[in-house]
Amino acid sequence: MSGYIDIHVHLLPGIDEDGPPGLKSSLELAQELVNQGFATVIATPHSLEGAPSAEEVLACRQLFTAELEQRQIPLQVLPGSELALEPQLLRRVKSGQALTLNRGCYLLIELPVYQQLPLYTEELLFELKAHGYRPILAHPERVKAFQDEISYLYRLVEKGVYLQLTLSSLTGLLGPAVQKTAWKLLSHGLVHFMATDAHCTGRRLSATDWAVQRLETQLGVGTAETLLKANPGRLLRDEELEFPEPLPVHKSKSRFHLLKDKIFFN
Ligand SMILES: [Fe+2]
Repeated sequence: MSGYIDIHVHLLPGIDEDGPPGLKSSLELAQELVNQGFATVIATPHSLEGAPSAEEVLACRQLFTAELEQRQIPLQVLPGSELALEPQLLRRVKSGQALTLNRGCYLLIELPVYQQLPLYTEELLFELKAHGYRPILAHPERVKAFQDEISYLYRLVEKGVYLQLTLSSLTGLLGPAVQKTAWKLLSHGLVHFMATDAHCTGRRLSATDWAVQRLETQLGVGTAETLLKANPGRLLRDEELEFPEPLPVHKSKSRFHLLKDKIFFN
């Protein structure tokens, strides 16, 4: 399978501290994304309290796209951002200061990984929804609060919040707790997108092939295709996602129990 769409990658040069520092490393990352089977990506630099500005990100994407064309690297790069959760988020999104994914109604939100979640988390997510936005949580499998209580994510998904997992989380590269949470979320049908969240060439991105193969083995080619192509494609067209009803986490009867012996926790 190829023609993947990556909705979360730090690709643009010199625009956030997680991404490549300059053009050379951005181009190398773009080429590696192509090598791993990606045809389209949304560049998602970190955005915190309005910085970098939407104008800066859009200008940077335009220049970078021209560089890709000049070098004939066949990767479509669309604009977006990874938005840190903060009280002013709705105002910034509505005013256009903060970029949604491909400038549509889906937005990628990063929650604190190690700290407690802010008390306003749920209220803000539902307020965004009430204003017509579709919030996606970036890599919730890495968020300690969710590892401790996965049923909380089930309740959020039930209310219309979407989840994006990182491909390398499936391999154990980001630790056993992350890996276990990721597979548990997948086996309960709680995942809507898989993405690289790559910052550079290297292990996180080169885990793609292994992770996709394991997804196909454990959950079927159709599920892998949904998470890497069909759902991201609907996102790009600003359409609703289609997915089966998730399994409640508190009822421990899940596909995970059927699959767990086959999943390698390395
Ligand atoms: Fe990220």
